[in-house]
Amino acid sequence: MALSKDFTSSYGPWAVVTGASSGIGEQFAHQLAAAGLNVVLVARRADRIQRIAAELAEHYGVEVDPVVLDLATPDFLEPLLAACVGKDVGLLVSNAGVGLKGPHAEISPEKLNKMLDLNCRAPMQLARSFAPRLIERGRGGFIFTGSIEARQGFPYSAAYAATKAFVQSFGESLWVEFGSQGVDVLVVNPGPTDTEALSLQGMDASSMRGLMPPGVVAAHALAQLGRGPVTVAGRLNRVLMRSLSFLPRRLALTLAGRGMLDAIAKGRASGEHQAPPRQ
Ligand SMILES: NC(=O)c1ccc[n+]([C@@H]2O[C@H](COP(=O)([O-])OP(=O)(O)OC[C@H]3O[C@@H](n4cnc5c(N)ncnc54)[C@H](OP(=O)(O)O)[C@@H]3O)[C@@H](O)[C@H]2O)c1
Repeated sequence: MALSKDFTSSYGPWAVVTGASSGIGEQFAHQLAAAGLNVVLVARRADRIQRIAAELAEHYGVEVDPVVLDLATPDFLEPLLAACVGKDVGLLVSNAGVGLKGPHAEISPEKLNKMLDLNCRAPMQLARSFAPRLIERGRGGFIFTGSIEARQGFPYSAAYAATKAFVQSFGESLWVEFGSQGVDVLVVNPGPTDTEALSLQGMDASSMRGLMPPGVVAAHALAQLGRGPVTVAGRLNRVLMRSLSFLPRRLALTLAGRGMLDAIAKGRASGEHQAPPRQ
């Protein structure tokens, strides 16, 4: 779906997209560039974002600035803000995130800390840094990528689900704070999406029902920006989460745990459970 001229004037001329080297973030970058926005791409893999930047610039005739950054480090903001000097940023898509699946008692404490930094601290500080300039413009937006796991506890994905609950709560609050000053905020909660994230977490994509293409998730979020604080991507995911919310909490948590264990077992059986190469 093409984005309207109104979208470009509200959220352009520059957008910043984190986690733009693959999956949902790469699709956000493509769709924003296709709409005529200039884009700052943020991720760690330099080769990937440089290639994507060259492709987008050539394809869509927009300016694209790749910024190689580890958002889980304490001092990530300085180089990003330096890269944004002189750019009128109207949209921040805080999308980078990682997940860790398995029994909480067995997950590496270092990996848990990095996940917390990336999934929670980075969006919180990004919003703090970019909000004043967007509020001053009186127009613009923030999109935060959460997860359907934000809605309740998910056993065997306990810490990841909690990071996404943080993202949802944080985004909902900002929807009121920033919205009253002309700046839109949206949390998009995807369900299983066909990206590298699944195999990195040891999950078997081929055994998942309702797997969504990342481009559809990004398009859904861009279409929903300005229409409410939180959106779940995909009809099946909306029905699933609604059904869980009607169940007694104990039953909903037990079922979520069973589903997660089943998905982890399928991932192990398919041989995809490997040490993640980039976490
Ligand atoms: N796929 C799903 O089923 C699913 C479901 C619900 C929610 N989500 C959420 O969707 C978002 C995007 O994930 P995805 O599915 O598109 O997975 P993905 O393809 O693995 O993308 C993750 C992106 O985050 C970047 N990233 C990871 N660690 C980083 C770090 N320390 N610093 C900077 N960038 C970092 C990665 O780039 P580099 O490795 O190059 O840094 C990559 O561009 C995440 O927030 C995820 O939690 C995904």
